[in-house]
Amino acid sequence: MNGFSYRRGELFAEEVPVAEIAAVAGTPVYVYSAGAVRERFRAYAGAFADLPVLFCYAVKANPHLAILRLLSAEGAGADTVSGGEIARALAAGVPPSRIVFAGVAKTDGEMRLGLHHRILQFNVESLEELERLDAVAREADTRAPVAIRINPDVAAGSHDKISTGRRGDKFGVPIEEAVEAYERAAALPGIEPVGLHLHIGSQIAELAPFARAYRRAVELWRDLRTRGIALERIDFGGGFGIRYREEAPPDPGALAAMVRELTAGTGCRLIFEPGRALVGEAGILVSRVIYRKETRAGRYLVVDAGMHTLMRPALYDAWHDIFSVREPPPGTPLLTMDVVGPICESSDILGRDRRLPALGRGDLIAVGATGAYGAAMVSNYNSRPRPAEVLVEGGRWAVIKPRVEPSAQFADEIVPPWLAAPEGSDRAGGSHSDAGD
Ligand code: LLP
Repeated sequence: MNGFSYRRGELFAEEVPVAEIAAVAGTPVYVYSAGAVRERFRAYAGAFADLPVLFCYAVKANPHLAILRLLSAEGAGADTVSGGEIARALAAGVPPSRIVFAGVAKTDGEMRLGLHHRILQFNVESLEELERLDAVAREADTRAPVAIRINPDVAAGSHDKISTGRRGDKFGVPIEEAVEAYERAAALPGIEPVGLHLHIGSQIAELAPFARAYRRAVELWRDLRTRGIALERIDFGGGFGIRYREEAPPDPGALAAMVRELTAGTGCRLIFEPGRALVGEAGILVSRVIYRKETRAGRYLVVDAGMHTLMRPALYDAWHDIFSVREPPPGTPLLTMDVVGPICESSDILGRDRRLPALGRGDLIAVGATGAYGAAMVSNYNSRPRPAEVLVEGGRWAVIKPRVEPSAQFADEIVPPWLAAPEGSDRAGGSHSDAGD
């Protein structure tokens, strides 16, 4: 189940008509199926049930507290990449003992936050960061549990902009420098080397790149052990692909079989950091048609969602299915059109050359598989409302994030006093040159 299906001629999210949600919450609106998220998590947890595994959901894919809560209740931990994400995970009730913290630019403050809450593990990206973490941990009179992120030099075979494990990508320590890095880590009093980390990229639709990278990690793990550095866990990262179009990503069972074989005999605890695979197909973006524009040069469906709502098509040329919320009766003629947003940029296209019925003003469309990296990457560009978000569970649904109107987007902007504020404006703030007056 991905949570969305046509019933009686219209699109439903679980038991709720999508048109009803759009009427109440407004458009554009992201709609998530709680049942679909849970089912994805259980598919992974079930396939790996005989292995000592912890799934740390990659918060960045969809950081909403309700999603974090739901997954945490299923037993998931959180993979975080900032103090903000750690704060979210904690706010949603994820136990610190299930939180890992990655990212190339951890600040002292973020390190302190993680140490203070005694999170499970810091995934360290460089020697300089390791030295810094050592210093911060010693100041706090503690030791930081560390996994060093290695760069295994494996091409993930996915989009260039979301591949992270090739030599030359900014992430991790090159695998040939890993032994040196671990020897340094073992010598630092504020550092406790506990694991090994890697993450080779996102939306990877084949098993082979994972197997190549994981094998290198296990070999390194064994090598380190012979050198007296015994790591209790390996964190293999995330990156499991989903089906956007014709992809046939490996199923959790196939992944588990590969991992079982590669890690046999290590006695290692395993961590995975899936993001997209848990939430991507459990969400749709619902948008309303503003205009239908037909010229001799082309046919456009102009809708109220765009690159400010869903950045993936503009940023990665990503494909998302687009369909009508009212099910086209069999035999309905389909037209070829570009589905475009309201933003003043030519790249603001949700889908090119789509086959859709002759929709018009007021009709609703749904953009598929947008539960991951959709709402997470929303922007205020062009001062349009930020989309609402809705969670559906069976016949129940709730607005979990109301639309953010432009007035709220500029509510914290301050016009300095030397720019005369118009009568009645309350936007004037203090000036730095006034300090001390
Ligand atoms: N772990 C680490 C260290 C990561 O950097 C990422 C994603 C994940 C886990 C989760 O990867 P996933 O399982 O979701 O593939 N905005 C892009 C995706 C960027 C992914 C960045 N890192 C997109 O919309 O395709």
